Amino acid sequence: MELSPCLSCGACEETGECVISDDMDDVYSAIREGDRFILASPIFFFGLTAQVKALIDRCQSFWCEKYLLKRPVPEKPFGRKGLLLMVGGMKKEAGFRCGDATTTAFFRSISVPEHETLFYPGIDAKGAIKKHPTALKEAYEAAKRLVY
Ligand SMILES: Cc1cc2nc3c(=O)[nH]c(=O)nc-3n(C[C@H](O)[C@H](O)[C@H](O)COP(=O)(O)O)c2cc1C
Repeated sequence: MELSPCLSCGACEETGECVISDDMDDVYSAIREGDRFILASPIFFFGLTAQVKALIDRCQSFWCEKYLLKRPVPEKPFGRKGLLLMVGGMKKEAGFRCGDATTTAFFRSISVPEHETLFYPGIDAKGAIKKHPTALKEAYEAAKRLVY
């Protein structure tokens, strides 16, 4: 997808809507209509990737809608829940804490009040996650909890 970064123009503070029109239009609709959300990202420089961060920043319009205009996304019959999946090449956990803090702000802004987080340090090479002894089973179980 082609996503422009947020320009902090301030227009969404008045309307709750972003003035930039690009592939984010489809993401806004999906966020409004959906009730289960999975965000997956590797850790780059102790945070989420620039690609997913651009998407998150563009959700400032949801933040304005919820907190300034007092119009959170309406409740769904089965609520709204999230799951965060991260891998990182290092053994350090700091990057995952940063990724989780960003995602918490993102999910709460789009009116997802709860999420579970799975993260796997020491995953660097392509396909390495497939050799992890528990990751696939844990992701499967977390996804089951997500949909129930
Ligand atoms: C630009 C860049 C920055 C990275 N920074 C970190 C980092 O701060 N912490 C970390 O644990 N891994 C870091 N890594 C390693 C990636 O998290 C790791 O290679 C990951 O498995 C990539 O996931 P992918 O194969 O799905 O792209 C970085 C990799 C790149 C390319």
